[in-house]
Amino acid sequence: MPLVTTKEMFKKAYEGGYAIGAFNVNNMEIIQGIVDAAKEERAPLILQVSNGARKYAKPVYLRKLVEAAVEDSGLPIALHLDHGDTFELCVQSIKDGFTSVMIDASHLPFKENIKVTSEVVKYAHDHGVVVEAELGRLEGVEDDIKVSAADSSYTDPDQVQEFVSKTGVDSLAIAIGTSHGAFKFKGEAKLRFDILEEVSKRLPGFPIVLHGASSVIPEYVDIINKNGGSMQGAKGIPEDMLRKAASMAVCKINIDSDLRLACTAAIRQHLAENPSHFDPRQYLGPARSLITELVRHKLVNVLGCNGKA
Ligand code: G3H
Ligand code: 13P
Ligand code: ZN
Repeated sequence: MPLVTTKEMFKKAYEGGYAIGAFNVNNMEIIQGIVDAAKEERAPLILQVSNGARKYAKPVYLRKLVEAAVEDSGLPIALHLDHGDTFELCVQSIKDGFTSVMIDASHLPFKENIKVTSEVVKYAHDHGVVVEAELGRLEGVEDDIKVSAADSSYTDPDQVQEFVSKTGVDSLAIAIGTSHGAFKFKGEAKLRFDILEEVSKRLPGFPIVLHGASSVIPEYVDIINKNGGSMQGAKGIPEDMLRKAASMAVCKINIDSDLRLACTAAIRQHLAENPSHFDPRQYLGPARSLITELVRHKLVNVLGCNGKA
């Protein structure tokens, strides 16, 4: 089976009241950790690559690894560009074999966001590729850009119909209070489900995407802090909120920080317990295994997409 787009996955997820996990990938161990979990749980997958990941690993390496994942697992897997910030980057990713791209022009004024998104949609659809765009702006760090709380903004439901009909985009990321990174809330976690509800009323049947959706699993933060790390105050989105979003119009839930935490927790713990180890396989193996455990948990207990491949 070749790489797939997200079209079919989103249709089934919307109708079934579950969400597909979109996991950020940067190297072989991360990809294998995720895919082993999806294979065990028969879950469709979105593997996504940020511009930072493209620079770190080179697109060709990641594409070949993801193609290997398809061959190894037989699962429907989409290869997605995460937070593409220009038309050119989206075009290059399509040429590199990605089956889905995100054009994130959410920092631009509404009309300019429509313009650049429409250009990407035209090119992508001509090449059989689907497009995600964003309206509203999440707080946090993406690549090297830090969006402050003051510069973040909730999605305005009054804009979504015009945006989707003028751009022809296939899915839409909205801002309802999630944020990128491992420090999402200082006090109580709050998400604007009223906005999600309103958006889905305006766009019946249309797939919504939730970025910044890591739970920042406390157990991993503890392991990191007990083994030389310093991540006091790290806090993410409670899982019951993610389950609720998945049961609504949210069809794609983005997870990166939790993968990073699992990876780092396993490596820190392994090296603390085995100070003489220096073969990368000795600590990357446990990192891969903990990623598998994490992703199985997400697929079964948070996203509900197990058994849907
Ligand atoms: O939304 C951002 C993702 O977590 C990717 O992060 O740009 O550091 O690869 P990155
Ligand atoms: P987290 O930082 O919450 O994992 O969000 C990842 C994300 O939105 C990738 O686009
Ligand atoms: Zn994101």
